[in-house]
Order: sequence, then structure tokens, then C-alpha cells
Amino acid sequence: MLFPIECCQSYLSRDIMENDKLTDICMNSQRILLRNVKFEDGEMIAHLAGDFCIADMMNGAIPHPYSLNDAQLWVEKHKEDNLNSKAISWAIIEKKSRMFIGSIQLRRAEKNNVARLSYWIGKDYWGNGYASEAVGLVIDYAFNEMNLELIEADHFERNPGSGFVLKKNGFIQSGSFCKKEGLMEREEVFFCYQIDQHLYRFFLNEHKID
Ligand SMILES: CC(C)(COP(=O)(O)OP(=O)(O)OC[C@H]1O[C@@H](n2cnc3c(N)ncnc32)[C@H](O)[C@@H]1OP(=O)(O)O)[C@@H](O)C(=O)NCCC(=O)NCCS
Repeated sequence: MLFPIECCQSYLSRDIMENDKLTDICMNSQRILLRNVKFEDGEMIAHLAGDFCIADMMNGAIPHPYSLNDAQLWVEKHKEDNLNSKAISWAIIEKKSRMFIGSIQLRRAEKNNVARLSYWIGKDYWGNGYASEAVGLVIDYAFNEMNLELIEADHFERNPGSGFVLKKNGFIQSGSFCKKEGLMEREEVFFCYQIDQHLYRFFLNEHKID
């Protein structure tokens, strides 16, 4: 079964609260819950994102090694970015274990109504469809609640799994480029992806998702 059908059908509870201007957005699908990252997540973030195989694919966004202090500082920065409407970072929680398993973020680009998407899942939880499910929830929120027009994402050529996650959610490849990037500061080939409102609606219609 295509995951978005299952995901969107169970996309029933979404609470959007304005609390001291901090927008706390919780989203639910069948197997995962997305909620704002919290200070208490620091330990799991440091533990999971401290694995080199995560940091190595995150385009320099996660340093290595990654300490508890780094992770807690990142959570604090998230609060600031959220308050300034610059970015929303969600914790991905596996429902069956109630464990923090990864994170997904939407960051506003300079252009109006455009945001960039990034995500990671702890290695022990790979291959369960969780990243695909989380991306489905976030783009649903971005197009329906934030009225974004375009979401962009990219990944290294040597990370095809991330491309599958995007394609499964209707993203199309829009180009590629080469740049010295990442933890190792080596030449990387980037594959760029995007999805806009029109493509998103078309994708939902193609897969008969209401
Ligand atoms: C990329 C990543 C997010 C995928 O998470 P995940 O929860 O395992 O992804 P999913 O289970 O939703 O996989 C979606 C599809 O991609 C495929 N896939 C996932 N990882 C893959 C890999 N390394 N190689 C080939 N295919 C892969 C899966 O088989 C699945 O396809 P299917 O539905 O046809 O079986 C995870 O590996 C990760 O966090 N990597 C490190 C950080 C990272 O790369 N972030 C993205 C930066 S752009």
C-alpha cells in the first residue's frame, strides 16, 4: 500500500496552539507522532544524531562528534527560530515505543512562501517507512495550514534513500549541482527536489487521497 493513503487517512488529530507565541504543532499518523522538539529530547538527539552516518548526510548541519550540550543548544535555537517564524523543527516519535526516533524541519527560505525541508531518522529505526510518513505529514501541514507555495529539499548523490523518501511524497527532481560541502568538506553532488501546491494536489489526486 502506498504510505500517503494510510498516512493521510489517519491524519485526524492536529492541535495548533498559540502559547506565548510559540507555535506548538502536533501531528499524528498511524505509526508516528510529530511534536515540537523539547529540551528533554537533547539526550536522544545527541545519542542518535551523534552517529556519524547521520551527520555525514546532513550537509554540515550536524557537527561530529555531537555532544549533549550541542543537542540542547540546538533545541534552544529551535525555540528562537520558531518564535521568529524562521523554522519549525519537529521531534518524530515512534508511537509503539513512545521513543524519540528522529527529527524533521521546515525552514523558511528568503523567498516568500518557500521553505526547505530536512530530516533524519536514528539508524536503528531505518527502513520502516518513518521518514516517508513524517515528510507526508509535514508537506500536508505546509500546503494546507501554512499556505506555502513551494518546498525544496536536496540530498547527496551517495544518499539515494533520501531521494526515495522525497519521490514517494510527490517531489520531483529539479536539478543537481556540485559543491564542496558536508563534514568532510569534500566535493559532493547534490540532487535537488521540489514540490509545489499544484504538484502536491495532483499527487494526492493521482493516489486518490482526500
Ligand atoms: C534517508 C533517511 C531519512 C531514510 O529514513 P527511513 O525512515 O529509513 O526511510 P523510509 O523507510 O521512509 O524509506 C523510504 C524508501 O527509501 C528506501 N531507502 C531508504 N534508505 C535507503 C538506502 N540507504 N538505500 C536505498 N533505498 C533506501 C526504502 O527502502 C523505502 O523504499 P520502499 O518504500 O520502496 O521500501 C535515513 O536513512 C536517514 O536519516 N539518513 C541519514 C540522514 C539523512 O540522510 N537525511 C536526509 C538528508 S537530505
